[in-house]
Amino acid sequence: MTILGVETSCDETAAAVVRDGREVLSSIVYSQVALHQPYGGVVPEIASRSHVEKMPGVMTQAMEAAGISWPAIDAIAVTYGPGLASSLVVGLAAAKGLALRLGKPLIGINHIEAHLFSVFLSPEAPPPEEACPLLGLVVSGGHSMLVDTPQLGCYRIIGQTLDDAAGEAFDKAAQLLGLGYPGGPAIDRAARQATLRSDLVFPQGRVRAGHHLMAGALRPELCVSFSGLKTALMYHLRTHPVTGPEEVNAIAASYQEAIVSALVDRCDRALRGSHYRCLAVGGGVSLNARLRVRLQELAERRHVRLLLAQPKYCGDNAAMIAGLAGAGHGVRGAAAMALDVSPSLALDALAP
Ligand code: KG4
Ligand code: ZN
Repeated sequence: MTILGVETSCDETAAAVVRDGREVLSSIVYSQVALHQPYGGVVPEIASRSHVEKMPGVMTQAMEAAGISWPAIDAIAVTYGPGLASSLVVGLAAAKGLALRLGKPLIGINHIEAHLFSVFLSPEAPPPEEACPLLGLVVSGGHSMLVDTPQLGCYRIIGQTLDDAAGEAFDKAAQLLGLGYPGGPAIDRAARQATLRSDLVFPQGRVRAGHHLMAGALRPELCVSFSGLKTALMYHLRTHPVTGPEEVNAIAASYQEAIVSALVDRCDRALRGSHYRCLAVGGGVSLNARLRVRLQELAERRHVRLLLAQPKYCGDNAAMIAGLAGAGHGVRGAAAMALDVSPSLALDALAP
């Protein structure tokens, strides 16, 4: 199966061609970051308009880079949620139109499930059936969750953030520290210039049992709250005005450590006494250098194999969309053509 994937859930316009779920023939990502930078965050109307402008060119580029002709495509896969409605609608409409024009099937893909699948785009990763049961960690600008995955396509969210996503916590801190947007890479860079100081410690967002947001399979000890972290930084900056770039770097390092420690601690608790073979980590925040090091240490300590997405597949991309479809997942047949965008599409909804 050679599948053309299309992804427009937020501010990246992406198309990719993937063969049999794992062989990436091309992956084109047009990032709108420069368009949103002046506003310090994604502006939905600008994102939507830019997707409309760029999508035809990005699709053509993906096909040319793959070196295959339109009739050689077996199906079109597209993200239908979760994400920004006005962004999702552009990709879904483009993919439906193309599927009709080419007379090929459409496959609807869940964006979070695709982030989890992105680890399998690495040639050295084991096949999904050998990697499962696995513990999945998806950390992006919109989501932070721990997913119990007995097999691909079967998910139970056992931990998640109760408020801000990890990426959001990075982005908000960078704004407060004057490091610009997007904040994750900026904090990652700043933190590398500093060593951790014992007098600068930020909270790790523990969640008490019986919290009113606990539902389903969520376990409080595997959940996290990042909104208090941002408030703690705000108060710190009020009472300790920044003295120079070295101080900014030191704060960035401590703040990053709090997020990383919270995520590693939740993974550790989920792995304790478990039967997982692998810990699979995807999403934009999984690019964070410190997080990658700390997760590797944890995986060795807990005797599980760490599967990290390659850096080019950590952020939003269409290879993970086409890959997941090629592995046999997603909404198919007449139901796919009837799909509307689903901005708050859940992952649990996929569990049988
Ligand atoms: O997965 P992604 O590209 O888009 C969403 O689906 O949200 O994730 C974007 C998020 C942003 O919040 C960005 O600041 C964060 O990933 N990010 C990072 C790093 N690179 C990107 N966070 C921490 N460290 C990084 N190196
Ligand atoms: Zn994403």
